[in-house]
Amino acid sequence: MNLSDIREKVKECRLCRLCEEANNSVPGEGSENADILFIGEAPGKKEDEMGMPFVGAAGKFLTEMLSACNIDRQDVFITNVVKHRPPANRDPLPDEISSCFPYLQDQIDIIQPNVIVLLGRHALNRFLPDLRISDVHGSAMRAQGPLAEKHIFFPVYHPASALYNPKMRDTLIKDMKKLPVLLKKIKKSNVSS
Ligand code: URA
Repeated sequence: MNLSDIREKVKECRLCRLCEEANNSVPGEGSENADILFIGEAPGKKEDEMGMPFVGAAGKFLTEMLSACNIDRQDVFITNVVKHRPPANRDPLPDEISSCFPYLQDQIDIIQPNVIVLLGRHALNRFLPDLRISDVHGSAMRAQGPLAEKHIFFPVYHPASALYNPKMRDTLIKDMKKLPVLLKKIKKSNVSS
C-alpha cells in the first residue's frame, strides 16, 4: 500500500456521516519520505473546496512558520485526524475520529516520520488522551500505549487558535522554532543507536 492507495480509499470512504455534506475528501499531501508529519484537526471550508489540507488562513500561517524554520512545505506531510470537513466547521465527534483513524495509522506506517507534530488538542488527544495542550505544547515526548509508543510527538497549539491572538501567535512561533533542532537531535540519535 502507498499514499495514493490511501487517497483513493479516503475518496470512497463512507464509514461516517462526514462524507455526506463534504464536497471533497482531504486525505493529506506532501512527501512519502517526510521527516515531519503534521496532524491537524479537520478540513475547513477552503480545504473542502480544494481537497487539500491547510490551504486557508491557518494554512497560510503554518506555511509561514515552516519557512521561518527553513522547512519547505513540500518536504513534510500534512494531514488531519478526519479527512472530510465537519458541517459548519464543528469539532469532529469521537466516532468520526475513530472511524478515520485507520487511514491516519496507515499514513504514519508508510511515511515513518521522525517526528509527528500534533496541531491542537484533537490531534494531541487522539494519541495522548490524558494531556492538555496548554500543559505540553512545545515539548517533545514519547508515549506509552499501542497507538503511540513507537513515535516522537511534538504538540503545539493549532495555527487557527493563534490567528487573532498575538500572544498565542508568539508562543506558537517560539514552539515551532524548536522543531529543526529537535529533528537534528532525533536523526543524530537514530544514526548512533
Ligand atoms: N484546520 C485544520 O485542522 N486542518 C486543515 O486542514 C485546515 C484547518
